[in-house]
Amino acid sequence: MAEQYKLKRWLIFTEDSVTSTQKWVRERVSALSDRTAILAGVQTAGRGRSGRTWKSPAGGFYASFLLKPSPPIVLAPCVSLLAAVVLARLLKQRSIPASVKWPNDVIVEGKKVAGIIAESGSFPESWFILGIGINLTESPSIPERKFLPAGSWLEFGEAPAAGELLEKFLGEFDFCWRNREDNPMDGIMEELNSILWRKGEQITLSRGGDTFPGVVRQIDGDGSLVLLTDGGERRFVSGELLTVPEERG
Ligand code: BTN
Repeated sequence: MAEQYKLKRWLIFTEDSVTSTQKWVRERVSALSDRTAILAGVQTAGRGRSGRTWKSPAGGFYASFLLKPSPPIVLAPCVSLLAAVVLARLLKQRSIPASVKWPNDVIVEGKKVAGIIAESGSFPESWFILGIGINLTESPSIPERKFLPAGSWLEFGEAPAAGELLEKFLGEFDFCWRNREDNPMDGIMEELNSILWRKGEQITLSRGGDTFPGVVRQIDGDGSLVLLTDGGERRFVSGELLTVPEERG
């Protein structure tokens, strides 16, 4: 049975265990009001991007945030990037240096500590669900992932309680993004590009069946990644970054 409490402009539900907080919100999207979030202690079928699973044992942070109506859909990657920057900020406040791996992972010392997913739709009404998973005390092993193993916050410093983290996250997130029609990246571009994973380094971007080698230049205001390739600067709106082409996240 879900419990609930108010946190400034948000209504927060808490559950000990759900299949997926994304699914929990999606199934109730008509009944829930704008700015509702769910925080779960465990997910039995956590979902990652690109159809991957997100292992969600006890001791992690698993939350989904509903905005309805959805912000303009062109802003979706920017909302995820703001969330990543806010998480990196919260880690930094505890002296843990974090970087943001495009499109929106939070990396500490070569380990993926947090992942973000953004989903939206227009049925039965306009909705946007931001999902955040953070390994707080556990770092689930993901054998199929050849690089960027999972790391936990606790490996690098004292981990906050999930409820405390939720409050801090929403405080920063709402402070940075006050109007749904505005670009949430407006005030964070410099910060984002200063903590950009592999900035100035050679990587490979994988998209569909194609790979694009290049040097990471920056993230632009629309959330796209600029790579310096042999053919000059190229801008990408989707894809996955690999350090060598054989890797798969
Ligand atoms: C990724 O890096 O692939 C994104 C992972 C997102 C995981 C979170 S955990 C809370 C929310 N519920 C889910 O089922 N997924 C997201």
